[in-house]
Amino acid sequence: MCAGRSRACARGVRVGGRERSIGLRVEASGAETEATIEKEVASRTAVMDASPSSSDGDVEEGAAEDAEGTACPYTATKQALGLAGPPPTRPDADGNPAMIDSKSFLKSLLKAAQHPVGMPIAMLDWAAEKGECVGIKNAIGPFCVSILDPEIVEYVCFTNAKNYRLRMLPDAFRYVIQNKGITGSDGQYNREHRMMCQKPFINSFSLTQFSSTVEERIAYMCNTWRQAAKMDTTGKPMEINIDNDSQQVTLDIIGKVAFAFDFERCEAHEALTLRGDEGKKDNISKLLAAYNGSSEIMGELFITPGPILKLQNFLGLGRVRELREQYDILESVGSKLMGERRVVVEERMKNGDNEDYCLLDVLVKAKDADGNPLPDADLWGDINDVMAAGHRTTASNFTVNLWHAARHEHIQRKIEEEVAALGGRAPTFKDVQEGRLRYTERVVKESLRKYAPINLFPRLAEGPDTLPSGHQVKEGDFILLSTYAMGRNPRVWEDPLKFDPDRFTDENLYAQAEKQANAVARNDPAKLEIARERMRRRMAAGRDFTYTPFGAGPRSCIGGVFALLSATTMLATTVQNFKLSPAGDKRDKLGDELNIMYDTTICFPEGVWINLEPRDAPLGAA
Ligand code: HEM
Repeated sequence: MCAGRSRACARGVRVGGRERSIGLRVEASGAETEATIEKEVASRTAVMDASPSSSDGDVEEGAAEDAEGTACPYTATKQALGLAGPPPTRPDADGNPAMIDSKSFLKSLLKAAQHPVGMPIAMLDWAAEKGECVGIKNAIGPFCVSILDPEIVEYVCFTNAKNYRLRMLPDAFRYVIQNKGITGSDGQYNREHRMMCQKPFINSFSLTQFSSTVEERIAYMCNTWRQAAKMDTTGKPMEINIDNDSQQVTLDIIGKVAFAFDFERCEAHEALTLRGDEGKKDNISKLLAAYNGSSEIMGELFITPGPILKLQNFLGLGRVRELREQYDILESVGSKLMGERRVVVEERMKNGDNEDYCLLDVLVKAKDADGNPLPDADLWGDINDVMAAGHRTTASNFTVNLWHAARHEHIQRKIEEEVAALGGRAPTFKDVQEGRLRYTERVVKESLRKYAPINLFPRLAEGPDTLPSGHQVKEGDFILLSTYAMGRNPRVWEDPLKFDPDRFTDENLYAQAEKQANAVARNDPAKLEIARERMRRRMAAGRDFTYTPFGAGPRSCIGGVFALLSATTMLATTVQNFKLSPAGDKRDKLGDELNIMYDTTICFPEGVWINLEPRDAPLGAA
């Protein structure tokens, strides 16, 4: 957008049948006239009103510039609507779909391999150079298409999703897990297990139970921090590596919601922090060691070349063998726990209680087509996947949320205001669901945009197809999709490196929907109207292919709702009890960008340090 004077204006508009007041911010250069600004406001407002006749003006503007190629008095308007510059996905000079040749691809691969973020960096480079959907002639593997354009992501993940349901996972998954569990399975098995496993994460009874778990665990951690700060005699605010502590809280939470198992990481952390006690060796430690070991190895195997994995599998050696051993331990401890839980659930059901207190409760009640209970190995596959998918992702997001709140006083102040309005009681999922923590939730969403816990969600084509970009794919071709790269696409997200939770206000999301609709339809009035309508519907439903922290389509995350509720509740609780600030120079060497790298999920090689100062009483308490 152009720099220059900016204006705000509020209008009453109807969105989805409800009357809303939205603030529109219009930026224009000094040369722009009042009329231009008014026209911009009117056109955006008309979009919200969904009046078909109002679209023509926008379209004619775009057509005028394209036809004449001259400076247009409505440049600011066009830029605001995403019409300036080339379309997101564009053909090459000869009108063919954009391609990267094999040599450039290998060069990019080399760069990506040396970069801590990996492939998404190459995807952003290709998008800047050739457009947001490029084909890759790959001398060492199948044809790939790299896609950042939300319209084409929608095609792959929604319109023709049945051709792109296969997940691209390292072979280690197949070797060790043997296509069990949600993440490593496909087809009917995957669909059935997804449906079962998603149930407690969207069911209101289970979510109420999970809210209590989250509230209790984060309160425990806050209490440890409070005690530790009291013991600190330096007179300075207490510095903590929040990355470490987040992982303890979230492992406890995911263990309880997945299979009613208490890893007691918060207790162990308390013992170590306050008493220097290393903890005891027991069943918990055995399970924990195997869990930690398997996630660490899986992280490594994700970036190990396929042929090496194949050889390790064939010879029964190396990290693949170690992973198998860790999984055997997990399964044997898991089987015992599942047996115990079956008894508990049967007892409850005899007493008329059919509710699901954790995911395992759903799974032990499930029956196969012949009415038999599912085998332990299947149940354990699902539990394990939910643990792996839900632990470090949620932990890293909590870390990033606190780091930003510590760094930006104005952000922390706004969270404080929301939390204070709760009157000193602990925040809950209900507060998030009923809109009492809107700003806090926006902070969580913005952290997910900028620091996506999972950077890629690639797919394999199941059959031949022609993408809307014109690229022809055949069975086995790779479709590269990236939450990280999409979250930093400068065409979609203005100033993408800026941390700005207000990107997620209703009015900004609707303005973004308008921009996206225009970028797609450009000069075609009929297409523009359809695109607008679709974008509005998407934004209203909260399902949107410009923002994909939880992936998209039939293989998207099943824990997204739970993750947002947990992260918002945990952030609100921490700010309620502590004043956050950046750690001292020795600890906080990070500048405005976090130092990150990715294995299976985002990692923070230097830790993430912040200061915590306990408040005298929870914010808002009388
Ligand atoms: C901030 C937290 C989280 C983030 C950012 C996240 C992100 C993702 C992403 C990007 C995918 C791949 C989606 C795709 O390929 O389209 C995924 C898959 C998955 N997630 Fe999450 N996730 C989070 C938390 C959770 C939680 C708490 C659970 C457990 C309830 C969970 C369970 C799963 C499962 C089981 C899959 C595999 C789905 C399948 O293969 O069909 N995730 N997640």
